[in-house]
Amino acid sequence: MRTQIAIVGAGPAGLLLGALLHRAGIDNVVLEQRSAEYVLGRIRAGVLEQVAVDLLREAGIAERLDAQGLPHDGFEMAFGERRLRIDLHALTGRRVVVYGQTEVTRDLMDHRHQTGLGTVYEAEDVQPHGFDGGRPYLSYRHGGTGHRLDADFLIGCDGFHGVCRASVPPGALQTFEKIYPFGWLGLLAETPPVSPELIYGHTERGFTLASMRSHQRSRYYLQCSLDDTVAQWSDDAFWAELRRRLPAAAAAQLVTGPSIEKSIAPLRSFVAEPMRFGRLFLAGDAAHIVPPTGAKGLNLAASDVGLLARALAEFYGGSTAGIDHYSQRALARVWKAERFSWWFTSLMHRFPDTGGFGLRMQQAEFDYLCGSVAAQTVLAENYVGLPLG
Ligand code: APR
Ligand code: PHB
Repeated sequence: MRTQIAIVGAGPAGLLLGALLHRAGIDNVVLEQRSAEYVLGRIRAGVLEQVAVDLLREAGIAERLDAQGLPHDGFEMAFGERRLRIDLHALTGRRVVVYGQTEVTRDLMDHRHQTGLGTVYEAEDVQPHGFDGGRPYLSYRHGGTGHRLDADFLIGCDGFHGVCRASVPPGALQTFEKIYPFGWLGLLAETPPVSPELIYGHTERGFTLASMRSHQRSRYYLQCSLDDTVAQWSDDAFWAELRRRLPAAAAAQLVTGPSIEKSIAPLRSFVAEPMRFGRLFLAGDAAHIVPPTGAKGLNLAASDVGLLARALAEFYGGSTAGIDHYSQRALARVWKAERFSWWFTSLMHRFPDTGGFGLRMQQAEFDYLCGSVAAQTVLAENYVGLPLG
């Protein structure tokens, strides 16, 4: 088989890239190791920046997003009982849209199916080859037989544990990492959200986040120990702990119900540089991870592939300038989102080892935010998302 662009991974990065390339008249094939159902079963974040919404629109996949996405003009922060609303729209003129990553993925999958672009689910043992020369290709097995997919370029959209970054010679790659000493326990329930806007809470029992997927579906998180297991957390234990961590007025509005999903995720900051090796490019979680505070993961995946789709279209138009600058341009935006996600995480969580001084720094920072429109603007500008560049 031969295509112009061979993409590894059918997460949001791979599927959105495929859609944007298709829009630009560029043929592409996606190889995914899991089944479509498995990919859709993963529950992840749900806040889209304007840049991501615009890219989905550009790719022609925003119909359901426009009908069902919830535009949010602001969000709340709480330190114990002290609450601060960050008025995103007043501070930046922009807003975000609450729409689950699962829904984005479903829309992208449906679109890909309709356009008839090649997608191989349950592709086993995918391996990139020859990307340091002029004839790159992917080898893989499917349905018990070996296959080869030749392409002009290979794109690793295969997430943090993917094969593409792992195939780069170690000397060609520099990595940066920070692991946080706690995790997030998430719960999804068919219950109305506790508040019309998201609430990020810092309490002496740890961080909490009250989010949503729709007016009928809530998503909540609790900072938990890395040793905790989902089995240890009954729904009742989750709701009781959430009630203790929410501001009293919000807790009074809490509607509980059976969980649809419950999972624990560790928190990590990670960047691999560069994001291009000859004819192999990395995009999304394959190249970088942010802790979820601020919901930048999906948005960064979208901005990477937005830049990459534009660069590849330029390549087929006769200029290599875009692909030559991709890594540098993408990383400039990635590092700013890394900084913001690290900062927001550092402010909102209880750290086991920073002591009384660390806590006073967090309280002073929140106090400063409460009294400074300049500080709120910095937060809001990063939260709604920086320009694509
Ligand atoms: N071969 C084929 N496919 C692979 C391989 C492999 N060796 N390794 C991983 N994959 C697939 C995974 O099964 C997954 O479906 O690559 C896909 C990567 O998708 P994501 O992990 O969703 O990453 P990405 O598309 O970059 O999306 C980033 O997703 O989880 C969030 O926090 C993340 O929100 C961010 C967004
Ligand atoms: C979510 O709804 O899952 C979510 C929202 C905001 C975040 C992180 C996760 O910062």
